[in-house]
Amino acid sequence: MMTVDLRSDTVTKPTPGMLDAMFSAKVGDDVFGEDESVNELEAKTAAMFGMEAGLFCPSGTMTNQIAIKCFTQPLDELIADQTAHVYRYEGGGIAFNSAVSTRLLNGERGILTADMIEPEINAVGNIHYPHTSLVVLENTVNKGGGSCYTLEQIEPIAELCRKRNLKLHLDGARIFNALTHTGDQAVDYGKYFNGISVCLSKGLGTPVGSVLLADKDTITYARRIRKVLGGGMRQAGFLAAAGIYALDHHIERLKVDHQHAAMLADELGKCAWVTNVVPTQTNIVLFDVDSPADNIVTKLVAKGIKCGSTDTKRIRFVTHLDIHPEQIDYVISVLRSL
Ligand SMILES: Cc1ncc(COP(=O)(O)O)c(C=O)c1O
Repeated sequence: MMTVDLRSDTVTKPTPGMLDAMFSAKVGDDVFGEDESVNELEAKTAAMFGMEAGLFCPSGTMTNQIAIKCFTQPLDELIADQTAHVYRYEGGGIAFNSAVSTRLLNGERGILTADMIEPEINAVGNIHYPHTSLVVLENTVNKGGGSCYTLEQIEPIAELCRKRNLKLHLDGARIFNALTHTGDQAVDYGKYFNGISVCLSKGLGTPVGSVLLADKDTITYARRIRKVLGGGMRQAGFLAAAGIYALDHHIERLKVDHQHAAMLADELGKCAWVTNVVPTQTNIVLFDVDSPADNIVTKLVAKGIKCGSTDTKRIRFVTHLDIHPEQIDYVISVLRSL
């Protein structure tokens, strides 16, 4: 029986080309700043996004949490959508690491607008209120089903943040999926954000890693916070080399993942037992079913198709580098037979 793992785009294994790049990486002690591959990855990613500097970290959670620490003081408040990964899935780190409260908004599939954010910014100087200091956006929005912001949508939010003296951070765990869908240019992102997390271990398919981008001073402080959190890695160049390889070879192909997701969404739309398919923009397909989601997941798993429920009636499929056309054909045939 064929196995198809649609649980997440984090399940990929390094390709032979990526492994070659890792084995031949030039490395040194990165805590001393001496790892050539890490330095190259940080500079390369920063240049791609029009930012001054980068910091290689073990995970997207760490880059996001370090950014929040850099851009807030204890007793501040940040604004994010209620689906935000930084709030829901980072273990309460906003409160624990930064002693910051969170104001949650209800965006459309996680997409916020300046009009939604503006009334939620607390008045300055009133001791009853936490001080609003940061807005966090996510692109693509994971829990929104891979929904995307365009730069045109981001611009008014960035303008509001500048006007009201707020920092703006992007959780770009799947930023390349967003760029693939919108056609926006990575280099333009640097104009709008104070911080950007770029994950290498989601759609780009590396085993480990995320790069935090910001200005030089912020990255100097972020490096200190990374050390405090135990994220200073030594010969991390073996991992950074996988990141460099992915930036060179795995961005262009993301459109294939999006095509695969669209094919699955199309088929799901024809299934009598599916009550709703969230319109698919990138590599995440969310769909609702007419019976308990876990029962359907069990049936799919029995046929070798790994996936997960995200709610009592909702299931998620995520396409990625290790999903090939014949596996999509197989999933479609199973969906037809259920
Ligand atoms: C939107 C988003 N942000 C951040 C992360 C955190 O990444 P990591 O698992 O590397 O900590 C994830 C993980 O899936 C994610 O989906």
